[in-house]
Amino acid sequence: MTVQAILKMGNPILRQVADPIEDPTSDDVRALVADMRDSLKAVGGVGLAAPQIGVPLALVIFEVPPERAQAADGEEADGVEATILINPVIEPLSDETALDWEGCLSVPGLRGVVPRHTHIRYSGLDLDGNRISVEAEGFHARVVQHECDHLNGILYPQRMTDMRYLVYEEEMEAFMDSLRKPAEDSAENEPEEESER
Ligand code: NI
Repeated sequence: MTVQAILKMGNPILRQVADPIEDPTSDDVRALVADMRDSLKAVGGVGLAAPQIGVPLALVIFEVPPERAQAADGEEADGVEATILINPVIEPLSDETALDWEGCLSVPGLRGVVPRHTHIRYSGLDLDGNRISVEAEGFHARVVQHECDHLNGILYPQRMTDMRYLVYEEEMEAFMDSLRKPAEDSAENEPEEESER
Protein backbone atom coordinates (compact mmCIF):
# COMPACT_ATOMS: atom_id res chain seq x y z
CA MET A 1 0.00 0.00 0.00
CA THR A 2 1.42 3.28 -1.07
CA VAL A 3 0.29 6.84 -1.18
CA GLN A 4 0.46 7.81 -4.83
CA ALA A 5 0.70 11.31 -6.26
CA ILE A 6 -2.59 12.53 -7.66
CA LEU A 7 -2.35 13.67 -11.26
CA LYS A 8 -3.50 17.16 -12.09
CA MET A 9 -5.55 18.58 -14.95
CA GLY A 10 -3.39 18.62 -18.05
CA ASN A 11 -1.94 15.17 -17.49
CA PRO A 12 -2.85 13.11 -20.58
CA ILE A 13 -3.93 10.09 -18.50
CA LEU A 14 -6.82 12.17 -17.13
CA ARG A 15 -8.13 12.61 -20.69
CA GLN A 16 -8.05 8.91 -21.56
CA VAL A 17 -11.02 6.59 -21.60
CA ALA A 18 -10.21 3.98 -18.94
CA ASP A 19 -9.99 0.30 -19.89
CA PRO A 20 -12.45 -2.16 -18.35
CA ILE A 21 -11.08 -4.48 -15.67
CA GLU A 22 -11.17 -8.11 -16.78
CA ASP A 23 -10.74 -9.79 -13.40
CA PRO A 24 -12.03 -7.75 -10.44
CA THR A 25 -10.78 -10.44 -8.04
CA SER A 26 -7.11 -10.24 -9.08
CA ASP A 27 -4.35 -9.30 -6.67
CA ASP A 28 -3.43 -6.39 -8.95
CA VAL A 29 -6.89 -4.88 -8.52
CA ARG A 30 -6.75 -5.34 -4.72
CA ALA A 31 -3.37 -3.61 -4.65
CA LEU A 32 -4.74 -0.78 -6.79
CA VAL A 33 -7.69 -0.29 -4.43
CA ALA A 34 -5.33 -0.25 -1.42
CA ASP A 35 -3.20 2.43 -3.08
CA MET A 36 -6.30 4.46 -3.96
CA ARG A 37 -7.64 4.27 -0.40
CA ASP A 38 -4.28 5.34 1.03
CA SER A 39 -3.92 8.13 -1.50
CA LEU A 40 -7.44 9.41 -0.86
CA LYS A 41 -7.01 9.27 2.90
CA ALA A 42 -3.72 11.16 2.68
CA VAL A 43 -5.31 14.17 1.03
CA GLY A 44 -8.91 13.91 2.20
CA GLY A 45 -11.85 13.71 -0.13
CA VAL A 46 -14.94 11.65 -0.81
CA GLY A 47 -13.93 9.90 -4.01
CA LEU A 48 -11.11 8.94 -6.33
CA ALA A 49 -10.86 7.32 -9.74
CA ALA A 50 -7.97 5.04 -10.71
CA PRO A 51 -6.76 7.33 -13.54
CA GLN A 52 -6.14 10.03 -10.94
CA ILE A 53 -3.21 7.97 -9.62
CA GLY A 54 -2.04 7.19 -13.13
CA VAL A 55 -3.84 3.87 -13.70
CA PRO A 56 -6.24 4.08 -16.67
CA LEU A 57 -8.59 1.34 -15.48
CA ALA A 58 -12.35 1.57 -14.85
CA LEU A 59 -12.43 1.63 -11.06
CA VAL A 60 -13.66 4.28 -8.65
CA ILE A 61 -13.91 4.47 -4.88
CA PHE A 62 -16.17 6.84 -2.96
CA GLU A 63 -18.08 7.33 0.21
CA VAL A 64 -20.64 9.82 1.44
CA PRO A 65 -20.10 10.85 5.05
CA PRO A 66 -23.44 11.23 6.88
CA GLU A 67 -22.84 14.95 7.45
CA ARG A 68 -22.48 15.50 3.70
CA ALA A 69 -25.36 13.32 2.60
CA GLN A 70 -28.19 15.24 0.97
CA ALA A 71 -31.18 14.05 -1.00
CA ALA A 72 -32.24 15.54 -4.33
CA ASP A 73 -34.71 17.81 -2.53
CA GLY A 74 -31.96 19.15 -0.27
CA GLU A 75 -33.21 17.23 2.74
CA GLU A 76 -30.96 15.12 4.91
CA ALA A 77 -30.14 11.65 3.67
CA ASP A 78 -28.20 8.62 4.82
CA GLY A 79 -24.48 8.46 4.25
CA VAL A 80 -22.94 5.83 2.00
CA GLU A 81 -20.18 3.53 3.23
CA ALA A 82 -16.89 3.28 1.38
CA THR A 83 -17.73 1.72 -1.96
CA ILE A 84 -15.55 0.16 -4.64
CA LEU A 85 -17.13 0.23 -8.08
CA ILE A 86 -15.54 -1.60 -11.01
CA ASN A 87 -16.53 -1.13 -14.66
CA PRO A 88 -19.37 1.22 -13.68
CA VAL A 89 -22.33 2.15 -15.83
CA ILE A 90 -24.62 5.08 -14.99
CA GLU A 91 -28.23 5.35 -16.10
CA PRO A 92 -30.15 8.58 -15.39
CA LEU A 93 -33.56 7.83 -13.89
CA SER A 94 -35.06 11.21 -14.78
CA ASP A 95 -34.27 14.27 -16.86
CA GLU A 96 -34.01 16.40 -13.73
CA THR A 97 -30.65 18.03 -13.09
CA ALA A 98 -29.39 20.25 -10.30
CA LEU A 99 -26.53 22.69 -9.89
CA ASP A 100 -24.11 22.49 -7.01
CA TRP A 101 -20.50 23.12 -6.13
CA GLU A 102 -17.83 20.51 -6.81
CA GLY A 103 -14.13 20.27 -6.32
CA CYS A 104 -11.63 17.72 -7.58
CA LEU A 105 -8.30 16.49 -6.28
CA SER A 106 -7.00 16.78 -9.85
CA VAL A 107 -8.07 20.43 -10.00
CA PRO A 108 -6.72 21.62 -6.65
CA GLY A 109 -7.64 24.99 -5.24
CA LEU A 110 -10.77 25.52 -7.33
CA ARG A 111 -14.49 24.98 -6.95
CA GLY A 112 -17.11 25.08 -9.66
CA VAL A 113 -20.86 24.81 -10.09
CA VAL A 114 -21.77 21.73 -12.10
CA PRO A 115 -25.10 20.40 -13.36
CA ARG A 116 -25.71 16.72 -12.58
CA HIS A 117 -28.60 14.31 -12.81
CA THR A 118 -30.46 14.22 -9.51
CA HIS A 119 -31.56 10.58 -9.80
CA ILE A 120 -29.45 7.80 -11.26
CA ARG A 121 -28.91 4.08 -11.15
CA TYR A 122 -25.31 2.91 -11.17
CA SER A 123 -24.15 -0.62 -11.65
CA GLY A 124 -20.85 -2.41 -11.82
CA LEU A 125 -18.84 -5.03 -9.97
CA ASP A 126 -17.30 -5.25 -6.52
CA LEU A 127 -13.94 -6.78 -5.58
CA ASP A 128 -15.48 -10.27 -5.45
CA GLY A 129 -16.88 -9.88 -8.93
CA ASN A 130 -20.42 -9.53 -7.59
CA ARG A 131 -22.83 -7.27 -9.42
CA ILE A 132 -23.73 -3.99 -7.72
CA SER A 133 -26.83 -2.05 -8.75
CA VAL A 134 -27.82 0.99 -6.72
CA GLU A 135 -30.28 3.84 -7.07
CA ALA A 136 -28.80 7.12 -5.91
CA GLU A 137 -29.97 10.69 -5.62
CA GLY A 138 -28.69 14.06 -4.49
CA PHE A 139 -25.11 14.28 -3.28
CA HIS A 140 -24.59 10.51 -3.59
CA ALA A 141 -25.61 10.64 -7.27
CA ARG A 142 -23.39 13.68 -7.82
CA VAL A 143 -20.31 11.99 -6.35
CA VAL A 144 -20.78 8.90 -8.51
CA GLN A 145 -21.27 10.96 -11.69
CA HIS A 146 -18.17 13.01 -10.91
CA GLU A 147 -15.99 9.93 -10.28
CA CYS A 148 -17.28 8.01 -13.28
CA ASP A 149 -16.63 11.03 -15.53
CA HIS A 150 -12.94 10.52 -14.73
CA LEU A 151 -13.18 7.12 -16.46
CA ASN A 152 -14.26 8.89 -19.63
CA GLY A 153 -11.48 11.46 -19.47
CA ILE A 154 -13.82 14.21 -18.26
CA LEU A 155 -13.05 16.68 -15.47
CA TYR A 156 -15.84 18.73 -13.89
CA PRO A 157 -14.93 22.06 -15.54
CA GLN A 158 -15.88 20.40 -18.85
CA ARG A 159 -19.39 19.86 -17.46
CA MET A 160 -19.84 23.45 -16.33
CA THR A 161 -22.38 25.61 -18.13
CA ASP A 162 -21.37 28.97 -16.64
CA MET A 163 -17.65 29.53 -16.17
CA ARG A 164 -18.28 32.55 -13.93
CA TYR A 165 -18.90 29.91 -11.28
CA LEU A 166 -15.33 28.58 -11.42
CA VAL A 167 -13.79 30.08 -8.29
CA TYR A 168 -10.60 29.79 -6.26
CA GLU A 169 -11.26 28.48 -2.76
CA GLU A 170 -9.77 31.56 -1.14
CA GLU A 171 -12.24 33.75 -3.09
CA MET A 172 -15.23 31.57 -2.23
CA GLU A 173 -16.45 33.68 0.68
CA ALA A 174 -16.30 36.92 -1.27
CA PHE A 175 -17.96 35.20 -4.22
CA MET A 176 -20.85 33.87 -2.13
CA ASP A 177 -21.28 37.28 -0.52
CA SER A 178 -21.51 38.88 -3.94
CA LEU A 179 -24.30 36.47 -4.90
CA ARG A 180 -26.38 37.57 -1.94
CA LYS A 181 -26.30 41.18 -3.08
CA PRO A 182 -28.51 42.12 -5.98
CA ALA A 183 -26.07 42.58 -8.84
CA GLU A 184 -26.87 43.43 -12.42
CA ASP A 185 -24.79 40.59 -13.76
CA SER A 186 -25.89 37.95 -11.26
CA ALA A 187 -26.57 34.69 -13.02
CA GLU A 188 -29.80 32.76 -12.99
CA ASN A 189 -30.18 29.50 -11.12
CA GLU A 190 -27.83 30.48 -8.37
CA PRO A 191 -26.71 27.48 -6.39
CA GLU A 192 -27.80 27.65 -2.79
CA GLU A 193 -25.35 25.48 -0.99
CA GLU A 194 -21.76 24.51 -1.19
CA SER A 195 -20.78 20.87 -1.12
CA GLU A 196 -17.15 20.36 -1.75
CA ARG A 197 -15.41 17.25 -2.76
NI1 NI B 1 -12.40 14.41 -9.39
